[in-house]
Amino acid sequence: MTTLPLLHPLSAACHPQPYAYYAQLQEGDALRWFPDLKLWVASRAAAVEAVLASPLCAVRPQAEKIPAAIAGSSAAQIFDQLIRMNEGDAHAIPKRVLQTTLRSLDMTRIAQRTACFADQLATATRPFDGAALTHWTHALPVYVVGDMLGFSADELPALHHWIKDFVQCLSPLSNAAQLQDASVAAEKLLQRFGDLVRQHVRPPDADADFITRVQREAQSAGWDHCKALLCNLIGLLSQTYEASAGLIGNALVLLHQRPELQAYLATEAPGAAWLSLVEEVCRIDSPVQNTRRFVEQDCVIAGVQLRRGDAVLLLLAAANRDPLANPDPANFAMQRSQRRLYSFGHGRHACPGQTLALGIAAAALPGLLHAHPSLLHTALQWHYRPSLNGRIPQFTQA
Ligand code: HEM
Repeated sequence: MTTLPLLHPLSAACHPQPYAYYAQLQEGDALRWFPDLKLWVASRAAAVEAVLASPLCAVRPQAEKIPAAIAGSSAAQIFDQLIRMNEGDAHAIPKRVLQTTLRSLDMTRIAQRTACFADQLATATRPFDGAALTHWTHALPVYVVGDMLGFSADELPALHHWIKDFVQCLSPLSNAAQLQDASVAAEKLLQRFGDLVRQHVRPPDADADFITRVQREAQSAGWDHCKALLCNLIGLLSQTYEASAGLIGNALVLLHQRPELQAYLATEAPGAAWLSLVEEVCRIDSPVQNTRRFVEQDCVIAGVQLRRGDAVLLLLAAANRDPLANPDPANFAMQRSQRRLYSFGHGRHACPGQTLALGIAAAALPGLLHAHPSLLHTALQWHYRPSLNGRIPQFTQA
């Protein structure tokens, strides 16, 4: 019998079987204090929603708007502008602009581009081993979003490389060398995105490309901060990267474990059935397992007194499995009615990329299985990449 590592709310994210532990946490108080971690922890859906809805709980600690480890670096220049890391006007106005532009995406075209890149990336490496599969799950979403932003096909490998390095600045687990790589990548990204926007030729037609539409939205919202716009375009890619790799990877893990689902989906064309699959994967095995909030003023939430400066960990993956939010939560039900999904957050910082992320994942999987029909019948093996909040499989054999 293998001994599994001991669990706490942070190690659960990349533990092979965290869900019984989350269910145990849900039996306790709405917010539970973990003195060793110096964190309040919310695991039930109502408490997670209450904290995410509170205007008194912010995305960054007041005393450390930028992580000390990256202060002064090029990576910090981007970090500082991201809507993910801001509150107030620096968040609300750009958020509306991005949300409106993302809502206008043609999802049929996104599915076509995804299928095309899925095939291209899946057939480029032989043998298609575990490392190649892991590369595919990470590169594909970046290729699709990079293409959507207007990058040419020959620039996509470099873009993937820079984003892979840049996101290291977002993890407290990164070492000095990784943070240095993140900063070098940030410089490249700032330069290349600057050129992309400056050299952008606006097409005359009403049905313009993404950058033109985002610029139009920004203009009509009175958001004329060029650098912030650039940084948040980079932010679309950094938000896409690990979460989408996790979603696609977790869907492959689930399919590998459920031959009956493979058989059912083999008869389904890309489309609705695959979308239901990835939505339910997101609920039952969330690629983003948790997020944090920092209390800005003393307040009472879910009946618990919180103090200014307190940090709260919100277990999104546990909230997805709260029986009060989703009845019979351990049951994988593709046709689940009124699915409540916390994987994409909730409230003012909820993910504006949800439809895009699900659409990419739903088109990616049939594309991959078309290129490698026996992939799921082989001895697929994986572990989860060390992370405090992401659940991202690293395949070691395919
Ligand atoms: C499976 C894929 C994805 C998951 C699970 C995911 C999840 C999340 C979550 C949980 C948040 C909220 C974080 C918080 O407030 O603490 C968030 C925010 C965000 N996501 Fe996603 N995301 C995914 C893909 C994407 C994609 C494809 C895009 C865009 C192309 C995107 C863009 C963003 C942005 C810009 C924010 C910041 C929103 C704000 O602060 O108001 N995400 N995402």
